[in-house]
Amino acid sequence: MFGTFDRASAQRGWQVYEEVCHACHGLRFVAFRNLHALGFSTEQVEAIASRFEVQAGPNDEGEMFMTPAKAASHIPSPFANDQAARVANNGALPPDLSLITQARVGAADYVYAILTHYRDPAPEGFNLNSGMFYNEYFPGHQIGMPPPLSDDRVTYLDGTKATVSQMAHDVTTFLTWAAEPNMEQRKQLGITVLLFLIVLTGFLYALKRQIWSDVE
Ligand code: HEM
Repeated sequence: MFGTFDRASAQRGWQVYEEVCHACHGLRFVAFRNLHALGFSTEQVEAIASRFEVQAGPNDEGEMFMTPAKAASHIPSPFANDQAARVANNGALPPDLSLITQARVGAADYVYAILTHYRDPAPEGFNLNSGMFYNEYFPGHQIGMPPPLSDDRVTYLDGTKATVSQMAHDVTTFLTWAAEPNMEQRKQLGITVLLFLIVLTGFLYALKRQIWSDVE
């Protein structure tokens, strides 16, 4: 109930998202400027945003065009639309990850488990369709997402060793923050409310004793 996000892990998780997951998954409810909350500086946020492109327009000719993102831009999907996403992924649709840790049973544990529980080859007797991968935690065990992580898939800027479980942990921390960036304020408010209620209860008890003090 006093929980806070591990900022260093969430920053590493952003790196995993940017370098790996963003090839297929958008994060449309998060704006680049929100990354300040993870401890990135204004310059870092601007540099991150400039590595992405967002659609803008129409220009004087009435056409839409792509332009480098700004800090205020939302993190775009890598695909123009769901159809294009399916075409690129053998028919499977990579969901936007903004709310993935809230939307699935098991929340963050589910995301971590999906990333770390591929099995190749699939268990004997399991009928795996072509272009699908066996995953112990995905419902039905057939997933259209190829295993996205392998050891040293990213080179962490802070020198942390990039094992599969470390990257899965970090990106899950990041996605948990993305799905509920106000968690820390919510918990702090909860503690304040509880303290207020405890003090109020004390006052009310003292008041009750005073009001009834002359009754035998
Ligand atoms: C599905 C996370 C990278 C393509 C999923 C799901 C999660 C996830 C949690 C399951 C969603 C659900 O329950 O519906 C991630 C993370 C990544 C990553 C954290 C980076 C570490 C990628 C990459 C690709 C990809 C690089 C493309 C090569 C897909 C597709 C699905 C999917 C196509 C839908 C699978 C299906 O419905 O069978 N991803 N993903 N993902 N992901 Fe990823």
